Amino acid sequence: MKNLDELSITDAVLQSHAGTPDSRTKELVDSVVTHLHAFAREVSLTENEWLAAIRFLTAVGHKTDDRRQEFILLSDTLGLSSLVTAMSNRKPEECTESTVLGPFFLTDAPALSNGGDVAQGAPGELCFVSGSVRGVHGEPVAGARIEVWQADEDGLYDVQYEDLDAPRARAVLLSEPDGSFEFRTIVPRPYPVPYDGPVGEMLKTLGRRPVRPAHLHFMISAQAYEPLITQIFRKDDPNLRSDAVFGVRSSLVCEWTRHTAGIAPDGSQRETPFTTIAFDFVLAPVRI
Ligand SMILES: [Fe+2]
Repeated sequence: MKNLDELSITDAVLQSHAGTPDSRTKELVDSVVTHLHAFAREVSLTENEWLAAIRFLTAVGHKTDDRRQEFILLSDTLGLSSLVTAMSNRKPEECTESTVLGPFFLTDAPALSNGGDVAQGAPGELCFVSGSVRGVHGEPVAGARIEVWQADEDGLYDVQYEDLDAPRARAVLLSEPDGSFEFRTIVPRPYPVPYDGPVGEMLKTLGRRPVRPAHLHFMISAQAYEPLITQIFRKDDPNLRSDAVFGVRSSLVCEWTRHTAGIAPDGSQRETPFTTIAFDFVLAPVRI
């Protein structure tokens, strides 16, 4: 057995992977080891710093349970989720950009007809959302499954309330034969990512704010098209430049127009101000 030193240790570890049956697994772990060792050398990692990192990751694990995924939050706040999303969703320029899914998507949101109420009692100012789903040649996509979910005026999703027994501020609807869709809901507000755990401590240590700009989440799927997971943001939101999870894309920022009381898009007379949002989604053809 040869003596290992701080330079030869990396090759020794890589050689120990020689028998890995799966080549992709070997590639991934080889690369992790190579970068991890290079990082330790570059910063001259001390034993105390190594132990602090171990304690931090242990705390991230302890904070994670069925309702709270601190590791995904760590990935999100380090920009890794956004990077992986970008690399996994390269598509023609004219297509709507993808962005991070986030932790609040549920698979069993209630079905809704076009024009229906997504809010279902969630608190907030009235908001009318309309738009269309199209392909890259402008063709309408009929029957596209549109899933939408959002925070309420307190910046909270339904799953963050302990006492709610039914979903709200989330729904699934289908685009019309001409590709159009519309629904009413409430105006989503900016909100902080959960910051009462080790990731929150990390953000504080780095002098970062935990805030996400206001957004509506969408997941759109249709036959012959790539699924689209995205969010739309508010043009005048001061938090756009400091999204804690790096999810903002300029092409996903649009005008949210606030109206005084009067006739709403659904023809009803409204006694209080309301907001309208219009956004057209362009889906990429399925990759063969
Ligand atoms: Fe969100």
